[in-house]
Amino acid sequence: TDRYAVIGNPIAQSKSPLIHGMYAEVTGQDIEYTKIEGPLGGFKAAVDAFRAAGGRGLNITAPFKLDAFAYATEHSERARLAGAVNAMKFEGDRVMAENFDGVGLVRDVVHNLGCALAGKRVLVLGAGGATRGALLPFLAEKPAALFIANRTVAKAGELAAAVAGQGAVGFGDYADLEGRQFDIVFNATSASLRAELPPVPASVFASSELAYELAYGKGLTPFLRLAQNAGVKQLADGVGMLAEQAAEAFEWWRGMRPDTRAVIEKLTVPLV
Ligand code: ATR
Repeated sequence: TDRYAVIGNPIAQSKSPLIHGMYAEVTGQDIEYTKIEGPLGGFKAAVDAFRAAGGRGLNITAPFKLDAFAYATEHSERARLAGAVNAMKFEGDRVMAENFDGVGLVRDVVHNLGCALAGKRVLVLGAGGATRGALLPFLAEKPAALFIANRTVAKAGELAAAVAGQGAVGFGDYADLEGRQFDIVFNATSASLRAELPPVPASVFASSELAYELAYGKGLTPFLRLAQNAGVKQLADGVGMLAEQAAEAFEWWRGMRPDTRAVIEKLTVPLV
């Protein structure tokens, strides 16, 4: 039995053991997947101990994604751009680091929700870690335009500069969104965790086909409600992103990709 785990603090809320347990079952993989509550300031010791006990890989959640970046010896390009790591694989002295949040998001949008990003006008609200992780996967889909809006406009500018050359990325604050319309709008701010609404003008949704809340399990957030009232037909939260990033990690570790439908069905919280 190969051992895997998710490490975070707090960790009780994590769905990862449930998800990876279901993936192991459908693929017939003999793995054990547990939760580790990493002590604050004690990430390295906790991971060293897990590896010494034979651990093969970890998922990393808050507040350790930057610690994991520092711990790793080899980083994928998207982990490097994200500056954060959500999955690690251990092989002897090698610690390989990945960030599957962005590819999981894109896979959910394109594959599960049937909404191509290619050729679309895409708006991302927020310029924190969630946006940082999604930028390269978004640009790989060749959207017609990608715009990052943030209260602190300098942070949006830094992100746009970090991917300059990979595609056309615009940025600004929320007032800059007046008079603009987008086909797909992502809320990658942390506002929904406190039931807050980013100050996005409802007019951005005039011709939108999808409004996507990256947070998971918060129901109809103020952002989704605004989009719904503006007439957006397709609303989604991050349940599919959660399932897909886990499937990416599972494939990276085990060499086979599980079907995600049963997990998404089980974890879906109605958008009401
Ligand atoms: P994460 O890693 O989850 O992305 P973060 O790095 O702290 O978290 O970033 C949070 C993002 O949500 C930021 O873009 C923040 O905007 P600022 O950079 O201007 O602070 C954004 N955010 C949080 N609460 C918000 C709110 N009520 N309205 C608009 N944006 C908000």
